[in-house]
Amino acid sequence: MKITGKELRQKWLDFYKSKGHVDIGAVSLVGDGSTGVMFNVAGMQPLMPYLLGAPHPAGKRLCNVQGCMRTVDIDSVGDASHFTFFEMMGNWSLGDYFKKEKTAWTFEILTKVFGLDKDKLCATVFEGNESAPRDEETAGLLIGLGILPEHIYYLPKEDNWWELEGTEGTPCGPDNEWFYPLDPDGKDPVFPDDYVEIGNDVYMQYKKLGTGYVPLENKNVDTGFGFDRMLLFLNGLHDAYQTDLFTAVIAEIERETGKKYDDGGEVRRAMRIIADHTRTTVMLIGDPTGVLPSNTGAGYILRRIMRRAIRYCRQLDVSTELLLHVAKIYIEQVYDEAYPLLRQKEDFILDEIKKEAERFETTLVTGMKEFEKCVAGLERKNEFMKKSDPGHVPETVIGGKAAFRLYDTYGFPLELTEELAAERGLTVDKGGFEEAFKEHQEKSRVIQKGEAKGGLESHSEMAVKYHTATHLLNAALKTVLSPDCNQKGSNITDERMRFDFNFDRAMTPEEIRAVEDLVNEKIREDLPVIYKEMSLEEARKEHFVGVFDSKYGEVVKTYSIGEFSKEMCGGPHVGHTGVLGHFKIQKEQSSSAGVRRIKAVLEP
Ligand code: SER
Repeated sequence: MKITGKELRQKWLDFYKSKGHVDIGAVSLVGDGSTGVMFNVAGMQPLMPYLLGAPHPAGKRLCNVQGCMRTVDIDSVGDASHFTFFEMMGNWSLGDYFKKEKTAWTFEILTKVFGLDKDKLCATVFEGNESAPRDEETAGLLIGLGILPEHIYYLPKEDNWWELEGTEGTPCGPDNEWFYPLDPDGKDPVFPDDYVEIGNDVYMQYKKLGTGYVPLENKNVDTGFGFDRMLLFLNGLHDAYQTDLFTAVIAEIERETGKKYDDGGEVRRAMRIIADHTRTTVMLIGDPTGVLPSNTGAGYILRRIMRRAIRYCRQLDVSTELLLHVAKIYIEQVYDEAYPLLRQKEDFILDEIKKEAERFETTLVTGMKEFEKCVAGLERKNEFMKKSDPGHVPETVIGGKAAFRLYDTYGFPLELTEELAAERGLTVDKGGFEEAFKEHQEKSRVIQKGEAKGGLESHSEMAVKYHTATHLLNAALKTVLSPDCNQKGSNITDERMRFDFNFDRAMTPEEIRAVEDLVNEKIREDLPVIYKEMSLEEARKEHFVGVFDSKYGEVVKTYSIGEFSKEMCGGPHVGHTGVLGHFKIQKEQSSSAGVRRIKAVLEP
């Protein structure tokens, strides 16, 4: 190994620090909602407000190595260089230096620090259009530094203009991309076929508005070099999984599967998918926002990725324990220094992986059988039709209802069914899937309405779970916030719970997190829920809490959950807390003066 991941990271940061930049560290992978993007797809994304002119607390020269996610590439993962998670080495000038310094520094780090040959470097610049002029300025600076004039190419907007797709009001501008021959010792490489892009410097001087652009007051520089790709390239490799980010992981997968990476083909592809997806899983669960597998939003993307990894474990005929061992390598050896939070959350991350594997493994095998039945059904039908009509065009679409059944009963994300179908040369009726989904939602709504009329009396299984969760939440609020917090009301549907309690200010994010954690801890402990009738006096003596005291008669019904919660209540409740799933607070807001309202859900 010529350069390790840890060395590359350090060299990048040290170099830019020596040029007056402050290392601002990496932030969450999850987008903050300001750009409508679920995950950060580039290192500059979290810096959006500052690129638009807000002063950054760390100053005008920043650098970091930032985790990014691009799920659009998920189908390509398994080849030598595509990932769902990757890192971007970045540095920024917020209205400070511009092209002169930037071209010089990129040239310096590439040739002096990384030892690339200036005569082999190629650069592309913007050829100009109605929004911005041809970037002769950058080209001139590059030639001044020693890049061969014939190695500079002017390209149109598709190539040399950077902006976040589908966004409004975001900073953008022409860019200067850097290329190097994939085989640096090869003879007479031809641009672009024999070259790889190693990174780019964006001259962000516009703001995108509608279909046009307006100049930004501050001229910014936004540099992004792909960390994983650079590491592969600087080591003269062609396969990213041979860098030290992955070698220990691949060795572990080889050891546990008894198969060889070098055998190539499907085995190698499955190994790479497991390696990539587990890394992304670790980064998402270990993210400061703590994404957990669920059926919506970022949680769904995580679930898709985790279930895909689980499926590939099955393909390699290995226990999903493997995922835990791989995760441990990332947490303890590969990203221990760059992401210390992973280490702190290690047990939690491993536990979540284990739980998701348990959830999905129980249904994966039966679900696969169900899938095979669908395929066999299609084949039978096609054969039958062919007998009566030799010109019959075979049907190749798996029905939407079947796909929904796989989703609803066996936990197959639609994308997984599509992938399985594609392996057989089939497709899935997506529209039909969505219809079945809506129909199902409509049905649950009708059932729920009926239940709402009867209150908890007609208790659906989900409502009963929420009811028990209400007790846990009540106790957790008393523990985390104040023993004086009392329930002021609650409302339960099959989809969520609402809980009102007295408290005189908004909860902080840390308090919300602590309450969630405590409830989830009590769920994990799988505490028994015990019903007992006793006199009101006795109940008071034993510190059972009651909501509306006046409603209780002489003999009261009580429920205790381990030692954690004791409430007077008519029930019904679940038998033990382990069945509740994962508790998540979605919103904490004011309900009325001195009363706060929490909306929360239980996720599978
Ligand atoms: N925004 C540019 C990129 O994503 C440079 O950081 O490549």
